[in-house]
Amino acid sequence: MSRIPETEVMNDPASVDAYTEITALGGLANFLMSKLNPSNDNLNIADIGCGPCGYYNELLNIYQNSVFTSYDASALMLEKAKLVVNPEKVTLVNSFIPDASLPANTYDIVLNSLFLHQLPNPAPCWDTIKQIGKKGAKFYAFDLLRVEDSDACWAIVNGMACGSPSVFQQDFYNTLRASFTVEEIEQQLLDAGLVATIETQEIYPNCSVIYIVGTL
Ligand SMILES: C[S@@+](CC[C@H](N)C(=O)[O-])C[C@H]1O[C@@H](n2cnc3c(N)ncnc32)[C@H](O)[C@@H]1O
Repeated sequence: MSRIPETEVMNDPASVDAYTEITALGGLANFLMSKLNPSNDNLNIADIGCGPCGYYNELLNIYQNSVFTSYDASALMLEKAKLVVNPEKVTLVNSFIPDASLPANTYDIVLNSLFLHQLPNPAPCWDTIKQIGKKGAKFYAFDLLRVEDSDACWAIVNGMACGSPSVFQQDFYNTLRASFTVEEIEQQLLDAGLVATIETQEIYPNCSVIYIVGTL
């Protein structure tokens, strides 16, 4: 199936409400946590496209002595995030990426979860990692992979999000069509001059996630 991009910034109140409620129950982003294994702490960490920060309990548990700057272009998402994060540890910033005003060469880790597929053009994700990460910084990206066809998308939505609000089901369907393939992501990394390891994992029949882990 060809890629069909979805609405980039999540500004629709019903979508934001549904997304926030569902991620608070333990969303897909928790898969990313299994890849985060700090060899040290006391880090300066950036999260791009942080959304409602539904996975921050786990994140702050892993990096107990680190501070986070978490970027999103949606004011509504950041309002939700404000309700759950500790402001001493997490600074929330409204920013539409790409954003030349973000601090250069600053972060020890740059991560993003379910952000890449949201972009009409994925290059700003990789360019931002290069812009704001220090030399030697680790980067982590986590996302879903595109699904073969519309019927397969609905089978996944009906299986995994059965009983969720219809707006969430539609958003999930749109995501499965807007996501990239492994080959496309490999090409994006090549184009960006980034070296990373890629791992995939099937989490439901015909539905897989991808983990991209690299060093700048
Ligand atoms: C699907 S949500 C993922 C949220 C969170 N990272 C998670 O895993 O639950 C994608 C987020 O990216 C944000 N976003 C999309 N395009 C963006 C851009 N160009 N700059 C900043 N944020 C963006 C959306 O507003 C949304 O909050």
